[in-house]
Amino acid sequence: MRATDIADDVRELLLSRDDIQERIAELARDIEADYVDRTPLLVGVLKGAVMVVSDLARELKIPLEMDWMAVSSYGSGTVSSGVVRILKDLDTDLTGRDVLIVEDIIDSGLTLSWLRANLESRGAASVEICTLLRKPSRLKVDVPVRYIGFDVPNEFVVGYGLDYDERYRNLHDVVVLRPHVYGASEDDVAGPVDPARKVL
Ligand code: XMP
Ligand code: MG
Repeated sequence: MRATDIADDVRELLLSRDDIQERIAELARDIEADYVDRTPLLVGVLKGAVMVVSDLARELKIPLEMDWMAVSSYGSGTVSSGVVRILKDLDTDLTGRDVLIVEDIIDSGLTLSWLRANLESRGAASVEICTLLRKPSRLKVDVPVRYIGFDVPNEFVVGYGLDYDERYRNLHDVVVLRPHVYGASEDDVAGPVDPARKVL
């Protein structure tokens, strides 16, 4: 039997592969300019940020290190509560380090706000944030984000690391899925309801 083509589940292309790569190159130039004589530690937030870290790191022409964290956010219904649990911690001692957190998307901002404070408390010299996507209409807390790829509308998006039920991370583009994927009718434009406990 032929495998299902995930492109068939796409309703709308929001950001193409080229859009993303072009913007990541621009962000890399900004980061290079800011980290002259400093070696950033890129902290990728698993799993969604894997693609961003991988492309951004290769675009950066300065020395850097990479490490990874996995966190789980507990929320009720569709919003995360800001109560975060570390599932996989860093291997790196942050004392005196210039940390650059790399995320796929900021929704309420609660996860990143918590993460930033957590990493700052470990003695980092600086903690900055880079996110590929931001949903400005959903922001609940004022978390300073130095590098932002794109603002996106308040729709559930997948691809380029972002998943629905662990799938679609391998799409090159950022897209909105057709409602039937979520078991909704084709007239229903709402995205999925997040489970109360989500692994980011
Ligand atoms: P907060 O609300 O704490 O949550 O900023 C950020 C996390 O929520 C997930 N998220 C999404 N994941 N498509 C996704 O695949 C989306 O449209 C979306 N919006 C939020 C994501 O895990 C992010 O790290
Ligand atoms: Mg994430």
